[in-house]
Amino acid sequence: MPTGDGWIRVIIEKPFGRDTETSAQLSSKLEPLFSEPQIFRIDHYLGKEMVQNILTVRFANRIFNSIWNAQNISNVQITFKETIGTEGRGGYFDSFGIIRDVIQNHLTQILALVGMGKPNSLDAESIRDAKVAVLRSIEPVTKENCVLGQYTASEDGKIPGYLDDPTVPKGSKCPTFAMIRLFINNDQWDGVPFILKAGKALEDKAVVIRIQFKDELRPYGEAAQRNELVIRAQPSEAMYIKITNKAPGITEDLRGTHQTELDLTYHSRYGVYIPDAYESLINECILGNSTNFVRKDELDAAWKIFTPLLHQIDQGHVTPIPYKAGSRGPKEADEMLISSGFKYQEGYKWSPQNKL
Ligand code: BG6
Repeated sequence: MPTGDGWIRVIIEKPFGRDTETSAQLSSKLEPLFSEPQIFRIDHYLGKEMVQNILTVRFANRIFNSIWNAQNISNVQITFKETIGTEGRGGYFDSFGIIRDVIQNHLTQILALVGMGKPNSLDAESIRDAKVAVLRSIEPVTKENCVLGQYTASEDGKIPGYLDDPTVPKGSKCPTFAMIRLFINNDQWDGVPFILKAGKALEDKAVVIRIQFKDELRPYGEAAQRNELVIRAQPSEAMYIKITNKAPGITEDLRGTHQTELDLTYHSRYGVYIPDAYESLINECILGNSTNFVRKDELDAAWKIFTPLLHQIDQGHVTPIPYKAGSRGPKEADEMLISSGFKYQEGYKWSPQNKL
């Protein structure tokens, strides 16, 4: 322990327990050793450039701040996809599963940043107070609002199934895919589904936050496609807004509309080095800035959302649906998306000029 002018800061990384209770036990063991301002619970997603950008985009731009609510937003999707399975980490992974590995922490942190109210100031405590407030407004997730999956071998047999990994216990029901639908119980978000989706061995590798706005049907009808604000955290950091535009030139389409995007692709717009998430966070810790670290009450609020469901899964009450490695995951997940009001729009695909 430092004496005099020195300081001590301790960075701790997950797993922070397995549920509300074990996480609280960990916190109470730390309490006599370090004060809360000395503890930096790291969630490396909070160090990612585009995740750090969420607050700036929301609160430094009037156009977003004023439409960020249930009157205008239909649904929010936060998606984490990886093409790799759990090869070689099956032993660790099996005792945690995708909800503890990625959803309770990384995706829930993103949800808090998207859903929180305006902080009183930009200091660490105000921001974390606002995050805690929104997390506490979320009801614990139920089985009905969740689709679990576990991957089997890929169609071509090149990627083995989860259960083929010798480090995975035979017959394991551990989910490698989950889609979870949450609702924030406050006026701002009344009835808006927040859909968290995470999966291993899927068709693509990407982390994307998709805010889909409601229809604007008069006078263009279906020809006016929904606006979407898409924040692409990785790979190829980008933010774009899908808009309906007049089709340029002479067109045979009577309504003359065309879907396009306002595109901020970081690689084309900024020629700067984007640090790795851990570089940013370790730097922030050295500077003593806790904003992007998880406070004890925030961790507790995040666990409370998932603990009842995790216990049901641990007791074998929820069986994952098999999906082929390299696919989009179980079809039941896509069905849940549609039943949440998400409209898939054919025709427009984001493809950056300078994709990295
Ligand atoms: C970790 C999980 O926290 O995040 C891994 O334990 C996951 O399973 C990883 O692969 C993803 O991090 P990134 O930065 O590669 O998206």
